[in-house]
Order: sequence, then C-alpha cells, then structure tokens
Amino acid sequence: MQRRPLIAGNWKMNCLKEEAYALAKGVAEKYAACTDPECDVLVCPPAIWILPVVDAVKGRVAVGAQDAHAAKSGAHTGDVSVPMIKDAGARFVIVGHSERRADHHETDADVKAKAKAVIADGLTAVICIGETQDQRDAGKTIDVCRTQIQGSVPEEANAQNVVIAYEPVWAIGTGRTPTTKDVEEVHAAVRAEIAAKLGQKVAEEMRILYGGSVKPSNAKELMALQDVDGALVGGASLKVDDFWAIVETCL
Ligand code: PGA
Repeated sequence: MQRRPLIAGNWKMNCLKEEAYALAKGVAEKYAACTDPECDVLVCPPAIWILPVVDAVKGRVAVGAQDAHAAKSGAHTGDVSVPMIKDAGARFVIVGHSERRADHHETDADVKAKAKAVIADGLTAVICIGETQDQRDAGKTIDVCRTQIQGSVPEEANAQNVVIAYEPVWAIGTGRTPTTKDVEEVHAAVRAEIAAKLGQKVAEEMRILYGGSVKPSNAKELMALQDVDGALVGGASLKVDDFWAIVETCL
C-alpha cells in the first residue's frame, strides 16, 4: 500500500497578517514549482488568517484550521464552526492537539465530537494523539495512544476523512524527539489499533503523521520510517526554507 505523504504546518498562535500571507505564498510557490510532487502540503494558520492564506496559496497547497467547535452554529462566543472554516476555503481541521487537550481541557469525547463535525461537512480531520512524559516514563505510551484512538476517532473515519498525528507531548516544542525505533514502534501500534477499530483496509490506507520537534535536520530519518506518512510541524513551519526542507524529504 502506497500512502501519499502529507507535510502539515501547524502555525499555532503565530504570525500577523502580512507574515501569514508571505509564509503561505512562499510555500505555495515552491510547491507549484515542483514537477510531480510526491507528497501533499497543508498549512494551518490561526483561524483569523484562513481567508488571506487561502487567497495567498491560490489552490496550490491545502489550508486547514487548528480547531473547530462541534456545533454548526449557535451561542458559543469566540468559537469557529466547521461550516465557517469550509466556507473560508479550508479543507482540513486539526482536532485534539495536546495544547487544546491541556489548555482547554478537551477530552477524547470532545475531540471525537469535533472530528465527527469535520467529517460530516466533508472536510478532513487531523486527529492528534500522544503521551506525556510521565506516561512515557511509566511505560504507558502505547496504552495511552490506543485509548486515545478508541476515544477520539469516530466510527465513520476512513483514509479520506481522517489523518492521525502521533505527537508525544514531551517532544512538542522541546527539540527532543523519540528514537526512530520508538517512533516506529508507536506508529505500528497506532496502525494496528486503527485496524482493530476500523478494519485492515482503512488502517493500511490511513496516513499517520509524526509530530514533535520535526526539523530539517531530523526529518529525513523520521520520514523514511515504514509507518510514518508525513509530519505535523510546529516551530519549523514558520519559516519557508525550514518547512520546505522538511517537505523536500518526501518529494
Ligand atoms: P513542534 O510542534 O514542531 O514545534 O514541536 C509540533 C506540533 O505541536 O504540532
């Protein structure tokens, strides 16, 4: 099974409008200059910059949101719904990022409800999972990931409407990464759990990204691993050249 890699940039709460526009345009122009690129590229700006970023990329790369409310509309001050994200021209929504699980107390059930809303509107959910340092130290990494998959991934998920991102919480923004052997082991376990939940065919087709301190210097060895189908990149997605160097490892 040949899965097409996806390199996704999670800009988090960074960039003012001009910076967002220039970053998106820079990435999109590099992608457009490639003949037959063998990977997909996604940029996820803060919600307020989705519109200018959609304009900047001119359909050359995909645009995504970093979160969405599970309801279509209503009395939810400060939130953004999936229909709004779709109307703005984005096609992906990150759900369940560890920063949202921690800062906004999102549970697996919340993440699943958001993922269901994303799928219901025809977009693709990037569902994030991953263990904390304490959970890793206690030898619970695989158990935690399996529980998060069971709790956060909707039953209607398939390889078109869901991408999984395995992001060890202790590796996010720290410059630390698991060994390639550890990444390989967790990704294989994640794929097995997807197979148990959604069937072997879906599991073989579904993309599982690695995230957590991916940078130009380590991307090549991480992206070469058997069950790693791309990356969710935070810090290194904020500079065109760094992000592009990561994309290039999959071209
Ligand atoms: P990082 O963030 O690349 O800065 O570690 C990754 C993420 O949180 O998605």
